[in-house]
Amino acid sequence: MSKPDILQIGAYPEWDIEALEKHFTLHRYFEAEDPKQFVADRADIIKGVATRGDLGLSREVMDMLPNLEVISVYGVGYDAVDIAEAKRRGIRVGNTPDVLTEDVADFAIAMMMAASRGIIGAEQFVRSGEWVKQGMYPLMSRVHGKKVGVLGLGRIGYEVAKRCGAFGMDIAYNSRSEKADAAEQGWTFMSDVKALAEHSDFLFVTLAATAETRHIINQEIMEAVGSTGMIINVSRAANIDEDAIIEALSSKKLGYAALDVFEGEPALNPKFLELDNIMLQPHQGSGTIETRKAMGKLVCDNMVAYFDGKDLIAPVV
Ligand code: 8YV
Repeated sequence: MSKPDILQIGAYPEWDIEALEKHFTLHRYFEAEDPKQFVADRADIIKGVATRGDLGLSREVMDMLPNLEVISVYGVGYDAVDIAEAKRRGIRVGNTPDVLTEDVADFAIAMMMAASRGIIGAEQFVRSGEWVKQGMYPLMSRVHGKKVGVLGLGRIGYEVAKRCGAFGMDIAYNSRSEKADAAEQGWTFMSDVKALAEHSDFLFVTLAATAETRHIINQEIMEAVGSTGMIINVSRAANIDEDAIIEALSSKKLGYAALDVFEGEPALNPKFLELDNIMLQPHQGSGTIETRKAMGKLVCDNMVAYFDGKDLIAPVV
């Protein structure tokens, strides 16, 4: 049997390519000189799309593929895929939940710790010889015992809260509904996002991005976190109003932000680079060898299952 033709939207590590090529014929969209022509030239044969969470699939490309049957996303977030249209056309969509949960949570905690204790600046302080010249590094803020807000108690939010528990932090969360297992852990449910922000020394944004959550972190929420507070985002850039956070950080109405995701990434608003109260990370929450291998395997397994006539291993629709 001939291998199904798959449009590959973005790059993957080489080990994933080897595995994918055993089962599929890959068409590398991201290497095409004229991407539109590239799709047009093979529109009829493409049966699957392999993409990444950050790239998704544009509606324009989706509309050009009349025989598309399955979309496999390397990532838990599928906000960059038009799910309503996929459902309408009967296209199956799979993603990579669970395998990345703990690494993203670890990374969110790492950003909180590093930012609070000034670890990145301190490294520079040592390397540049400022330690010898100036003596002690400026004093930083503690983490343990402080108040945490988790906005979105899904899989990742839950693991972030669990880790904060180990630091003796006072944990509150907002989610669509109160969760029984969170109550058992002693975490406080707050139905109001502003109240959660007011509670928080550290506000973690761990929400799946939807039309409803767009700019949920707005000026009012930033000011509620306040001049000594920190916002940590490991979800999607769209959950934060970027113009508002640049303004809130410049005016110090918000103390600090640690961001792993940006509108239009990998390019980012150059105003971010002028700020000294921000940590900028290159969307690497799930970026460990172990997790990325598991994600790549699931991207492949989802499509193999589909073309074998089975259900996807991790179906979105
Ligand atoms: C990316 C992600 O897929 O899981 C998600 O939703 O955004 C990430 O894991 C990853 O950075 C590769 O692009």
